[in-house]
Amino acid sequence: MATDPRTGPAPAPTGPLSAIDYSERIPNNVNLAGDRRLQRALESWQPKFLDWWKTLGPALPTQDVYLRTAIAVGRDGWAHFDHVPMTEYRWGIFLAERDPDRTIAFGTHQGEPAWQEVPGEYRAELQRLIVIQGDTEPASVEQQRVLGMTAPSIYDLRNLFQVNVEEGRHLWAMVYLLHAYFGREGREEAEQLLKRNSGDFDNPRILGAFNEATTDWLSFFMFTYFTDRDGKYQLGTLKESGFDPLARTCEFMLKEEAHHMFVGTTGVQRTVERTAELMATHGTDDIWRYGGIPLGVIQRYLNFHYSVSLDLFGSEQSTNAGNYYTSGLKGRWQEDRRRDDHVLIGQNRDMNVVRDGRIVPQEVPLLSALNLDLRDAYINDCSHGVKRWNKALESAGVDARLMLPHEGFNRRVGAYSRHHISPTGEVLAESGWDAARWLPTEDDRRGVAALMKPEYEYGKFASWIAPPPFGINDQPVEFDYVHLAEESLA
Ligand SMILES: [Fe+2]
Ligand SMILES: [Fe+2]
Repeated sequence: MATDPRTGPAPAPTGPLSAIDYSERIPNNVNLAGDRRLQRALESWQPKFLDWWKTLGPALPTQDVYLRTAIAVGRDGWAHFDHVPMTEYRWGIFLAERDPDRTIAFGTHQGEPAWQEVPGEYRAELQRLIVIQGDTEPASVEQQRVLGMTAPSIYDLRNLFQVNVEEGRHLWAMVYLLHAYFGREGREEAEQLLKRNSGDFDNPRILGAFNEATTDWLSFFMFTYFTDRDGKYQLGTLKESGFDPLARTCEFMLKEEAHHMFVGTTGVQRTVERTAELMATHGTDDIWRYGGIPLGVIQRYLNFHYSVSLDLFGSEQSTNAGNYYTSGLKGRWQEDRRRDDHVLIGQNRDMNVVRDGRIVPQEVPLLSALNLDLRDAYINDCSHGVKRWNKALESAGVDARLMLPHEGFNRRVGAYSRHHISPTGEVLAESGWDAARWLPTEDDRRGVAALMKPEYEYGKFASWIAPPPFGINDQPVEFDYVHLAEESLA
């Protein structure tokens, strides 16, 4: 591929590095010191990032937090845990090791060596993909900034901050690519990533779901389970990219995402466990007065977060998605496990459409339905958590169960968006339609908000959530994961 005339040759990573250099101002494993211009550009972006973190990052003042930091990107022992003041967290640039023999696995460039530079003909598309991914990372930090004020425990507070610092690092990951490979335009986009803000009326984040504030911890756990999981799937497609630096960045980000998935899965799990326990003990669904969140409320939160997260996959049919695939920019989830030609021309699949008041399958070209392909994998993944949560209800002796609503419920994007689909998949007429009864009501949100009282005593948990079975990094549950600032305790 030709060198881009505007940026010159991209910096060549010097072989498979895995150790991270912490002596540098910006910790990295990309030999940043070997490219003074790039290093200076990123060093001038760094204080802007820190300003952003101080203004729009976690609002609860703390002294330090027991955080993990990457020390190597290899398979074993990449993480180091220690108490660090959050503003001194070593945000840096970590790419998975380079495979010098890597080839492009799909599309028209299949079998060609992976690109180490941006191919001129795909420059605009690649930049756009990186900017959209990059925009979601700081957005979630902004959305969650006040949650610390109402943390159900110090353990949960620590997990929130871990997710926050890592989303900040994911921003670094995308900004590195913009600076290193996209020249002046890339640097301008990197500035914009800090100027757009979640919920800002004049300058909002790019995707709708990232402009809603995360107001309570049940929303946070649902967001981390459903919306962050969308992020995991998007990263999974970029990890396949023919543009090798993007693939390697996303591969390492996915390792960090695993913890975010854990926070969501276990957060909802522990909420459901507590709810089940209170339902069983008191023999009623109405457990507000016992300090628990009724199962119906949990289900409505689930319905909301699941349906808005499905919208993030875009329309089922998309020419862009097909073009990204054919060009080698974005693969499928676990591309290497697919048993087909990885080109997909002339192949079809079924997709659900609403016709004459019924949901029926219709055959469509596979290449045009790659968003749907990704969404299917995501839905399958989401269903595992629900099974786990239902086990908690079962072992408490409660008959009620949680469910994923139908994929067509409450959709604003794609084939279902002009129809009214109930959570169980009935197509409803306008007259029978009232989505509100399946979504969190004002009363639901007020009830949840009333339970959101901070519990900052080590080893104690708010009334609505069960303690976890284990602490973080083999520490006890009652460990001093966070040292709050004096003013926070007052
Ligand atoms: Fe992220
Ligand atoms: Fe995440």
